[in-house]
Amino acid sequence: MAKNNVVKDDLMDKLVSLCKRRGFIFPSSEIYGGINACWDYGPLGAELKRNIKEFWWREMVHRRDDIEGLDAAILMHQKVWHTSGHVAEFTDPLVDCKRCKARFKADEIQTEKCPNCGGELTAPRNFNLMFKTFMGPVEDDAGVVYLRPETAQGIYVNFLNVQGPSRQKVPFGIAQIGKAFRNEITPGNFIFRTREFEQMEMQFFIHPSEDDKWFEYWREKRWQWYLDIGIRVEKLRWHEHGPNDLAHYAKKAYDIQYEFPFGWKELEGIHNRTDFDLSRHSEATGKDLRYWDEEKKEKFIPYIIETSAGCDRTLLVCLIDAYHEEEVKGEVRSVLRFHPRVAPIKAAVFPLVKKDGMPEVAHKLYNDLRKRFKVFYDEGGAVGRRYRRMDEVGTPFCFTVDGQTLQDETVTIRHRDSMEQTRHKIAAIPDLLETSINGG
Ligand code: GAP
Repeated sequence: MAKNNVVKDDLMDKLVSLCKRRGFIFPSSEIYGGINACWDYGPLGAELKRNIKEFWWREMVHRRDDIEGLDAAILMHQKVWHTSGHVAEFTDPLVDCKRCKARFKADEIQTEKCPNCGGELTAPRNFNLMFKTFMGPVEDDAGVVYLRPETAQGIYVNFLNVQGPSRQKVPFGIAQIGKAFRNEITPGNFIFRTREFEQMEMQFFIHPSEDDKWFEYWREKRWQWYLDIGIRVEKLRWHEHGPNDLAHYAKKAYDIQYEFPFGWKELEGIHNRTDFDLSRHSEATGKDLRYWDEEKKEKFIPYIIETSAGCDRTLLVCLIDAYHEEEVKGEVRSVLRFHPRVAPIKAAVFPLVKKDGMPEVAHKLYNDLRKRFKVFYDEGGAVGRRYRRMDEVGTPFCFTVDGQTLQDETVTIRHRDSMEQTRHKIAAIPDLLETSINGG
């Protein structure tokens, strides 16, 4: 059955409302009136996010011999950001309306006048997107620190710290998941563009002569990753950066884009960063960041192929892609058709009624399953209503203990997407769940 049949204009409103109502995502500091473009993840949002990050880590680190993990500090030496080019170049041209004081990115408005009120606009001026603060009690230039605008630099400065102890040989990669901060001029579209967000980045260090080969390799791998979390292939496409949008550090760059209700937008960037980063850090610090290839007796600065994904943006794509409405028996059924891999709750366990020993059997199954999976127990109200509540939060399976269970140790499995029910032995349930989440 086709996923997501909701009119584009309504979809974001419906999702924002569902996320608030069911505890996925809500405005930060809401009881104080909220803070622009900052969001908190509630119980189900936190589970969804963990599942995305864990699957990324599993595929990018655990299942590979050639990638190591890292968790670097958010605050880094201020010189890192001078060397990387962020202090000089991580800017957006900004214009202000002299009348209503609204701010716009100069390259996003087509008119000479303010799009809000028609007022006169200031001349464009460059605005640096990094958040700046001070370390220690004295607020002077020496104490300036930046909240990192990307996790990547933590990897570059630790290249040898990781390579040495892990005894990795080029080609190999370093992966990291963590918060990044950008003082965006025009945040918005829910969690699409925020000022605080999480990135899942991997830097792959290679011999310069092999850059095209590895660039293509990582493009393929990262595309497949989105299919593996259940995203519809027809909603994904490639966008190659032309000379005007190529970042200062990149020789070649492609974005994986998704068709959001507000247009095709970037989801992940794959970049050939050449030896730009390691060379710059080496020059700035005087440290030799060349790699010694023992076999070839050759010393060189590795090139880097970067895969840079946004965790919050991926989560938004999972929500948008999964949301579906349909009419069932005269009522609208809203359902999140998450892949079981990312679904916040993997299964619900219900006794059909609260008597005849059914709650006891259901509790036992629930307690067995929760050792391995995030599952949910519910015995309140009509079973049909309980199914609907689980549909709305994207739980792929509901296991119901009924009269027959007490005789033959079977339960019904109600499948979220088809709403079909099948009967299975209780003993087979854990493996069935495992296979649906992680594959056979
Ligand atoms: N290290 C390279 C780098 O940071 P980027 O294209 O600027 O590249 C990578 O960012 C990814 O981070 C984007 O594709 C997007 O998913 C996510 N991202 C960037 N800015 C964001 C923001 N303001 N809010 C949410 N996600 C953001």
